[in-house]
Amino acid sequence: MSKNHTYLSRRSLKATILLIATFMVLCHVAADSPCAAQTDIQPAWSKQEISILRSLWIGTLPPLPKDPSNAFADNPKARALGAKLFFDPLFSGNLKVSCATCHRPDMNFTDDLPLAHGMGSTTRRSMPLLGVAYSSWFFWDGRKDSLWSQALGPIESNVEHGFTRTACAYLINKNYRSEYEEIFGKIPDITNAVASPVTEDVSVLKTWISMTPDKRDDVNRIYANIGKAIAAYMRTIGPGPSRFDRYVEALLNNDMATLQESLTAEEVNGLRLFIGKAKCTNCHSGPLFTNGDFHNTGVPTPAKMPPDKGRADGIRKVLSDEFNCLGRYSDAGPQDCAELRFVDVDIEKYVGAFKTPTLRNVAERAPYMHAGQFATLKEVLAFYRQSKSHELGHGGLSDEELSQLEAFLHTLSGPIITIDSRHSR
Ligand code: HEC
Ligand code: HEC
Repeated sequence: MSKNHTYLSRRSLKATILLIATFMVLCHVAADSPCAAQTDIQPAWSKQEISILRSLWIGTLPPLPKDPSNAFADNPKARALGAKLFFDPLFSGNLKVSCATCHRPDMNFTDDLPLAHGMGSTTRRSMPLLGVAYSSWFFWDGRKDSLWSQALGPIESNVEHGFTRTACAYLINKNYRSEYEEIFGKIPDITNAVASPVTEDVSVLKTWISMTPDKRDDVNRIYANIGKAIAAYMRTIGPGPSRFDRYVEALLNNDMATLQESLTAEEVNGLRLFIGKAKCTNCHSGPLFTNGDFHNTGVPTPAKMPPDKGRADGIRKVLSDEFNCLGRYSDAGPQDCAELRFVDVDIEKYVGAFKTPTLRNVAERAPYMHAGQFATLKEVLAFYRQSKSHELGHGGLSDEELSQLEAFLHTLSGPIITIDSRHSR
């Protein structure tokens, strides 16, 4: 596809050089209008660069990946129920916190706080959910291996929803019975209890232990199904085309007019740095601008917070999670759980490593990094410039280059779209 896409052929390159030379002469005479137009003429992209640009283009985003651990992932009824649960504040200790408290649709499904706040304050920043279904690991430390088991974490966290799985089961039976049963089958007898195996409250834990294994299994199954419904909804949240995507599309189609008007010269320079000298695509690669992996960029832990081991702790947690791909509430067979079974357990390597975030819509959702360490993109880029991390070796960037990179990051903003789950594979 990319064969003929060096958009300035040799002959037109000569013509362009001639044109630029003419403009430069003109500019000296009358230093106003023609000069601005002249700066829009960019050197051609090499074949290799065009293939990198294409790989970042939204047009290469594949259909939704299947989630064998969630048999309801593409079930429209599960999706509709999940959408309601996502916004329902009754699933919380104070009847005020829903997923949307920290994942606001009007804020790219994140919030604007350095540290997310529910019933109390968390130790990490909320994450945007755009294109989240394409991840293999969830949370900054990847301590969950599916979107449905991820959803079960915040509900029982005392600083997020501050709720319990038994109370969830009770509330589903009370408020969503028919919708739930239509998807997942009959709800067994549910008592109104406040019980959970993951709590710091001893009495809540004791109540859980006092329940029979069958009752605990009933509750766990409903709890897992709540996660599966919410996941069916979250799966479809995706990024739409940005100005950057229009630029690449125009480049691939040799559409010079669109090409010229989609990005400014400064933004194109930033893009050139992003895929070249600044080495950003070492990690921010593919159409979602993430390799889905974990890296230690050396971002300092905020003052007064204990050191965060990141992925190093995440690996241990996901392996022992009762709701992981190999667990009894997963719909997958062991053969479907390769990611988990062959997870890289080199704990040392991952101390202080965090998930590479998508850069789609990044300019619209400050602050940045896993604990909101930076308030602006300028601060992020200034940090990258001085970072000594061996993974970020870019050999020095000037002030002008930082501005160009920043300008480029702004071109990644676009609408939020619903990814059609019928096209999953
Ligand atoms: C109190 C704020 C808060 C609430 C409420 C909350 N979240 Fe989050 N969410 C966060 C934070 C903070 C993170 C990152 C946490 C971490 O890495 O430890 C996160 C991470 C996530 C991720 C991981 C995204 C990724 O790219 O890995 C998903 C998915 C998610 N939340 C969905 C949900 C769902 C579903 C609910 C409701 C059941 C929910 N969240 C409720 C704050 C919240
Ligand atoms: C070695 C891998 C790696 C490289 C190279 C890299 N990044 Fe990152 N980037 C990350 C990781 C990991 C994070 C999250 C770090 C954290 O929160 O601790 C991140 C975070 C960011 C963020 C904040 C996004 C958010 O939602 O918080 C921006 C912006 C960003 N990177 C831009 C860039 C730019 C521009 C470059 C090139 C100069 C670059 N990155 C190079 C891995 C990388």
